[in-house]
Amino acid sequence: MVIDERPIGVFDSGIGGLTVVREIIRQLPGESVLFFGDTARLPYGPKSKETVMLFARQNAHFLMNRGVRSIVIACNTASAVALPALKQEYSVPVLGVIEPGARGAAAATKSGRIGVIGTRGTIASGAYEKALLAINPDFEVHSAPCPLLVPLAEEGWVDHEITRSVIAEYVEPLLEQAIDTLILGCTHFPVLKNAIRQVTGGEIKLIDNAIETARSLAASIGPNPDPGRESSHNFVVSDVPHRFREEAELFLGRPIGRVERIFPEHLEEIYGEQ
Ligand code: DGL
Repeated sequence: MVIDERPIGVFDSGIGGLTVVREIIRQLPGESVLFFGDTARLPYGPKSKETVMLFARQNAHFLMNRGVRSIVIACNTASAVALPALKQEYSVPVLGVIEPGARGAAAATKSGRIGVIGTRGTIASGAYEKALLAINPDFEVHSAPCPLLVPLAEEGWVDHEITRSVIAEYVEPLLEQAIDTLILGCTHFPVLKNAIRQVTGGEIKLIDNAIETARSLAASIGPNPDPGRESSHNFVVSDVPHRFREEAELFLGRPIGRVERIFPEHLEEIYGEQ
């Protein structure tokens, strides 16, 4: 049997997508991963669709140039805007985080009343609502943009009274709608899961789309014939901000190793060469 040793390519606007890498490493042992975090140009959440589309294309192109076997858009905002185009433009499997999250929520809900939290870009796109209603048109979807949770997660305030107050402010209107399931529709939010649970209580199911995305990836690339084989995990970013390593290790859940830097100008250049 021929073993495909090419890495799985994963990109995000920053390092929140490392929550998805963490799950890929956990669920797909023996697979190599090449992660690109566009830390110089984040956040994507408040940017226009056109800008997010262009950045997503450049990021995907960069990963393809490095010979990846699939592309995971580990960013809700970029998935909401760019998934259909990137699926068409590349021959390798391209996955976003929204459909897997929607499938996870559809399987978990009993009442059909589902909440979604994410960036402004993700919520404004209506992508989760669309994906959920495509599964079941009777679902009732209630969404809330939660932009302040992104910097709180990056700051590492994962167990902090202020974080819980901000979560309560955003999530209480959804709880009033009697949701029984809440999609964490932003790659930063899995690190805040405990704080979110303290606000929502144990009854509400929290859907971590990192877990669901790694599951979908496993289904799309098939079983690894040699899970014990040596694999590599490489990290490339477009800027190395202050506290980068601490933040990255919080999202990845382990030490990060060597990090390569590539300037946005270089991404533009590679993209322009096609
Ligand atoms: N990674 C983004 C997402 O999942 C959050 C950060 C940003 O706004 O770029 O939507």
